[in-house]
Amino acid sequence: MSTAAQPSEPGRRQETPSGAGRRTPDPDADILLDVRDLKVHFPIKSGVIFDRTVGHVYAVDGVDLQIRRGETYGLVGESGCGKSTLGRAILRLEDLTAGNVLFEGTDLASLKGEELRRQRRHMQMVFQDPLGSLDPRQTVEQLLLEGMRAHGLTKDVDARQRLKDLLTAVGLPRTALSKYPHEFSGGQRQRVGIARALSVDPQLIVADEPVSALDVSVQAQVINLLADLQEEFNLTYLVIAHDLAVVRHISDRVGVMYLGALVEEADADDLYGQPLHPYTRALLSAVPVPDPTVEDDREQILLVGDLPSPANPPSGCRFHTRCPWRQQTRCHDERPVLRVPDLPGTPAGHRVACHWAEQIATGELQPHTVDPAATGREGSAPHDPEDRVDPMELTEQVQQ
Ligand SMILES: Nc1ncnc2c1ncn2[C@@H]1O[C@H](COP(=O)(O)OP(=O)(O)OP(=O)(O)O)[C@@H](O)[C@H]1O
Ligand code: SF4
Ligand SMILES: [Mg+2]
Repeated sequence: MSTAAQPSEPGRRQETPSGAGRRTPDPDADILLDVRDLKVHFPIKSGVIFDRTVGHVYAVDGVDLQIRRGETYGLVGESGCGKSTLGRAILRLEDLTAGNVLFEGTDLASLKGEELRRQRRHMQMVFQDPLGSLDPRQTVEQLLLEGMRAHGLTKDVDARQRLKDLLTAVGLPRTALSKYPHEFSGGQRQRVGIARALSVDPQLIVADEPVSALDVSVQAQVINLLADLQEEFNLTYLVIAHDLAVVRHISDRVGVMYLGALVEEADADDLYGQPLHPYTRALLSAVPVPDPTVEDDREQILLVGDLPSPANPPSGCRFHTRCPWRQQTRCHDERPVLRVPDLPGTPAGHRVACHWAEQIATGELQPHTVDPAATGREGSAPHDPEDRVDPMELTEQVQQ
């Protein structure tokens, strides 16, 4: 985990204002995970006798991302934008509709059966709801041994000692081994979930909302634990969260997802320091700032309307039904690609999917310069107007 705020040696741990330790990852580290144009479309079935496919939910619809070894990649976005599906697809817990998931250069999309099972050992998941993800009939010992046995890790090592080491690593007493999940607090249960993921000695951990179900007081402890474990076990993380503050404190890089695709990606400090996509700006403007003077002066963008249905996504830029900067050309009929904008000083790793990113960043385009009624072309085929945000509802209140 890193901070770009101060220069530091790669791999060196630093303290952040949150108290969570962050490291600067090695910029020369190899790419552990390379996701290419990944798509997961769920069929929508209809009919009692004949199971007809009448449409698809485009949960993940063309995601490219790379994660370097030892890095933490934070993935944020509204509920339903496809974060969990992407995480599960990377671990091949969902069938891939298209695209590739290269793990250490091996394409998981092409693996089946035993080969896939062996690769899975290197990639584990930590879930949002530790109680729901742990079998209530198994003790912690049984839970931890299950994965180790499946991957033959109880043969050569002293399994008992390994179990104790795991508990020590996640900060649980050894007596925890004989207990059942319901006997723990939420934070302790999440520690059990993390120990289970660690039990098979993975390289990549996909943590899906690892602290959202926990009390605020416990969230920081679990975040700090993840940071400590990363250093101790040289882990690579994909951390999924809807809380931008959580992601900021632990991520080296952050990807912002909207309706199945990334709309912006950058080093954490670059993204928070200079958000370029209107959606990212809106998300960040909703995060409270403790300083009342800063809070009063800063940009506030209130998005209206819910996330459109991923079964019927808007044409062109998927954010155009809610975008305060929407223009009459391109936005509604040309899907923007993730690209490095032509702005002086923008780092190569800062990518944004907006046709007008440059003009928005320089202030040449202002929000509300477009009459929403004049852009009301969203109802054009093949999309159903019923599923859309009414253009006349585009009354975002933007205060600079
Ligand atoms: N197995 C499935 N079959 C059909 N649709 C699904 C399935 N799993 C997820 N979806 C749909 O795919 C979309 C993305 O869901 P996903 O759970 O990935 O979102 P998310 O970003 O993780 O949301 P949240 O923040 O609420 O967890 C949603 O519309 C969801 O209803
Ligand atoms: S492409 Fe258009 S609609 Fe999409 S974010 Fe940029 S300005 Fe808004
Ligand atoms: Mg989710």
